[in-house]
Amino acid sequence: MTGAPSRTSRVSQTIKQHTQRPSSRPGPTVSPLHVGDPDFATPEFITDALCAAVRSGLTHYAQPQGDPLLREALAADLSSRARRPYSDRQVIVTAGGSPAINSAILAVVDPGDRVLIPNPTYSLYADSTRLAGGVPEYLPPGRDGRIDLELLERRAPGARLVVLCQPGNPTGGVYTRGELEQIARTSAEHGLLVLSDEAYDHIVYHHATFVSALEIDALADRLIYCQTLSKTFAMTGWRIGYVAAPPDVAAAAGLIHRTYNGAVNSAVQRAALAAVTTPSTWPADRLADYERRRKIAVDALVDLPGVSFEEPDGAFYVFLRYPHALSSRQMAGHALAHGVGVRSGSEFGPAGEGFVRIAFCVEDAQLTTGLARLRTALTTDSPQELTP
Ligand SMILES: Cc1ncc(COP(=O)(O)O)c(C=O)c1O
Repeated sequence: MTGAPSRTSRVSQTIKQHTQRPSSRPGPTVSPLHVGDPDFATPEFITDALCAAVRSGLTHYAQPQGDPLLREALAADLSSRARRPYSDRQVIVTAGGSPAINSAILAVVDPGDRVLIPNPTYSLYADSTRLAGGVPEYLPPGRDGRIDLELLERRAPGARLVVLCQPGNPTGGVYTRGELEQIARTSAEHGLLVLSDEAYDHIVYHHATFVSALEIDALADRLIYCQTLSKTFAMTGWRIGYVAAPPDVAAAAGLIHRTYNGAVNSAVQRAALAAVTTPSTWPADRLADYERRRKIAVDALVDLPGVSFEEPDGAFYVFLRYPHALSSRQMAGHALAHGVGVRSGSEFGPAGEGFVRIAFCVEDAQLTTGLARLRTALTTDSPQELTP
């Protein structure tokens, strides 16, 4: 017997069926190593700029594509980092990195288009591709754990877009200049667009070398660059980010953005202007905090039997393989039963199965408690395993 016809769209059902992102968060007694939300307060020069903007009357609709002053400042910053000119028309200000990614993907992906997603990676790219009616195609990493460039080359014909995330969530990995140049060659050969999400570009550890996709000239006419202020300035709740792309793609992303989200909060955009134009050591000072926390996390996990991970080059996550015969969802439940929130590796694509992700963007004492609980979970059999 079939029930009443569904009142929800096929797109929403497809996303519901596939999405791996949790829809709720564990309670306050749980050590919060599951959330990528920096614990720091947003720097005062940014909150001051917000208050000043509100007081000066910036309480009305902003321009749909973004505050002209902010777009200009972002274009100038992009031009200096890319060493080629970006115009303000190529920049669309969005309510965070997620809408930047959504607007960009919906701007370029048609139903049936294949989107290549090296994984494990941030789950939104696949969800957003499905929203557009496209087909996410996860590329597993090579044996060395890095992007498999030969596989990319084989899958590239006929694909629309490849999505890069670096420093990576969840692995903390970065691409080498050589890898980015090879990706550029493959993309040019097969007419692929390249989306590079660099949300953690200010959180790169001292031993590592970060090369932004902006620096790869051969990507210039196909690069869709997505950015957010969420992580760099501890502004996750402010909702401010942007997408920068070649003019035709930026215009299309602007239309999607205007239709879905509309203009971003005027005063928050002025605060963002202060964030990107005020010289400040704040991000570098926070990097020192993350370096310390990274060491705390690595030291707590490195000697556990059967546990392995690559030390992160950037971002604030450790993505670890566990020894238990459990799915990563079950393992996240097992950790939760020991009082610590972690994210299931499968959320980040099929290559994440068998892993969990911890975030070390909480204050040191909370981190230490959470890691102690995780150590117990990782060295204790789970009830599921004991059940015959
Ligand atoms: C790689 C990556 N991109 C984008 C985002 C989304 O950022 P926002 O909070 O600005 O939407 C996140 C958030 O965790 C992320 O990890």
